[in-house]
Amino acid sequence: MQVISSIQAIKQSIKALIKENRSTIGFVPTMGALHEGHLSLVRQAKKENDTVVVSIFVNPLQFGKHEDFTRYPRTFGNDCNLLSQEGVDIVFNPSATEMYPDGFCTSVIPESLEDKLCGKSRPGHFRGVAVAVLKFFNLIQPDIAYFGQKDFQQTVVIKRTVSDLNVGVTIKVLPTIRDQHGLALSSRNAYLSETEKTDALCLYTALTRAKTLANMGTTDTGEILREMEKIITRCTSATIDYIAIVNPETLETVPKVQNGDVVALAVRMGKTRLIDNVTLILMIAFSCLIL
Ligand code: PAF
Repeated sequence: MQVISSIQAIKQSIKALIKENRSTIGFVPTMGALHEGHLSLVRQAKKENDTVVVSIFVNPLQFGKHEDFTRYPRTFGNDCNLLSQEGVDIVFNPSATEMYPDGFCTSVIPESLEDKLCGKSRPGHFRGVAVAVLKFFNLIQPDIAYFGQKDFQQTVVIKRTVSDLNVGVTIKVLPTIRDQHGLALSSRNAYLSETEKTDALCLYTALTRAKTLANMGTTDTGEILREMEKIITRCTSATIDYIAIVNPETLETVPKVQNGDVVALAVRMGKTRLIDNVTLILMIAFSCLIL
């Protein structure tokens, strides 16, 4: 496994791969502190491509002033061991100055998507994500890039940006990986105390309740959200940032639930902000499909 940290070297490696006719490149962008969620993306990339590139870069542009950039978990040695065991070909881990040298001033603004859901409490976050990811796409020239459904809004922003700017990469979104109790895996779970970790299960309980209600025929968004709020507010260490049911492409909130809408939430457990979501598959729509 090659570990590359300079832009010049990654460009050369990719050029050589293309020259060698290694026909497809799969790419998994990460910020490191890898867990089974990331590894599920890597495994899928391995299955579907000749070469797999993983980036490890804690991107300063997507962290707000008072967010956890400096304390974000950095486990580079362990990450490389895991990726080497998975048979990854290249790890790209540039420094912040390599990615954003003096004078760097270009932004990518996902206009109608960036100030909804997580964007409300994380202004500038999705611009930061979009710039880093587009830069990686330009350098790595992947055929397919893999993202986790847990970061739902991020996947919507990336798909939109790629489509709007005609970037030649296919975006694949793979299911959220959960622990045995239902907690979505996240590098930030490392911040949780044991009590907070147990309490954090209320997120999945609330999302599951929303799914059940929608399956049973409840279409009124307000009713579903109230039920979810009840579940989460029972949990003492939880503070709701938002809970919303939205259209999966525009992120507009919906008054009545339709098949494919997404229930998304962000909840603070103590000082740690967790996100999660589920897609609503309405039984009525499902049975029509079978018929
Ligand atoms: O999901 C992440 O880890 C990051 O937002 C990403 C996509 C690597 C961009 O920095």
